[in-house]
Amino acid sequence: MRLATSQVVLFILAAGAAAASRSVWDGVYSSEQSSRGQSAYNSKCARCHGEALLGGESSPALVDRDFLEKWNGKSVGALVELTRRTMPSDGPGKLSRRQCTDIIAYLLGANGFPAGKSDLVSDAAVLDEIFIQPSPKK
Ligand code: HEC
Repeated sequence: MRLATSQVVLFILAAGAAAASRSVWDGVYSSEQSSRGQSAYNSKCARCHGEALLGGESSPALVDRDFLEKWNGKSVGALVELTRRTMPSDGPGKLSRRQCTDIIAYLLGANGFPAGKSDLVSDAAVLDEIFIQPSPKK
């Protein structure tokens, strides 16, 4: 029973953290981080998704309206995780969570979401509480 009680406490703490969710409009990454991400993007991703992230022959754009509509309401954590697990599509699983987080910071900037004062941390629990939203909430 003691174990069960501590699990309940952990659950309540986790629920408290979840209440502090943010959106990509809240300045969730820094411009230094997005520059790091840009270099990584150029060497690992641009050959398929294009220098301007507009997509290529068989690779989708990562900046257009369709992309944002598809990811609307999903978390930045899901985007980082997809990148880490499936990209580059011809040799996935080699990028660290940190590298993927930097690249996603660059991608957020390229989509017009504002930079803030600090880096997007690569902690999944935090990333899962930052939501993608094509336009700012009025
Ligand atoms: C060899 C080509 C190739 C490389 C290199 C590559 N990708 Fe992709 N990427 C693809 C293809 C093809 C898809 C579409 C996969 C699908 O629909 O199942 C895709 C899909 C994606 C998606 C999902 C797009 C959507 O519309 O939801 C993201 C995000 C993404 N790539 C990010 C990256 C990042 C970041 C890198 C660099 C680390 C990268 N990709 C490198 C080919 C590539």
